[in-house]
Amino acid sequence: MQLSSSGPDETFLIGRKLGRFLKNGDMVCFYGEIGAGKTAMIKGIASAFGIEEREVTSASFTIIAEYDTSPPFCHVDLYRLEDDADVYDTGLYDYLDKDGVTVIEWAERLEDVPENAITVRIDITGDRERKIEIEGINEKDWNNMQER
Ligand SMILES: Nc1ncnc2c1ncn2[C@@H]1O[C@H](COP(=O)(O)OP(=O)(O)OP(=O)(O)O)[C@@H](O)[C@H]1O
Ligand SMILES: [Mg+2]
Repeated sequence: MQLSSSGPDETFLIGRKLGRFLKNGDMVCFYGEIGAGKTAMIKGIASAFGIEEREVTSASFTIIAEYDTSPPFCHVDLYRLEDDADVYDTGLYDYLDKDGVTVIEWAERLEDVPENAITVRIDITGDRERKIEIEGINEKDWNNMQER
């Protein structure tokens, strides 16, 4: 499914809408260069879980941030994972076995992406323009889902 965004607020709202499709056990893999808007969209997803925008931060030294929501919401950012580091050593795969919804920035760094993962690819197509490609959500369901 192809979407376009013409600003961070629109990307946030697309994230919020995606968040309403997510259920326990779902994983969303984000792909896209620095500044594409991965975190912006994840703030929107998080808002669907009742998490405040300012609680969601961009790549710091935190690789995994877990929120005590129901289901638990987990934001993973693999940007700072060294090229030669083993993603298995991060403990990430232990998280994926647990309950919750997990969103992953820089999923390029993952060795194994679960088959049922939802993927989001964001391309910078202009100053404020982004092309957002979501795989794993039915387009008809998307169009029927209430905006808000
Ligand atoms: N349509 C848009 N959607 C999202 N962000 C946009 C858009 N237009 C401009 N921006 C700007 O692009 C930047 C996106 O930053 P964001 O931290 O979300 O990117 P990121 O993909 O998470 O980057 P990083 O790889 O560094 O974590 C912000 O400064 C935002 O204001
Ligand atoms: Mg980010």
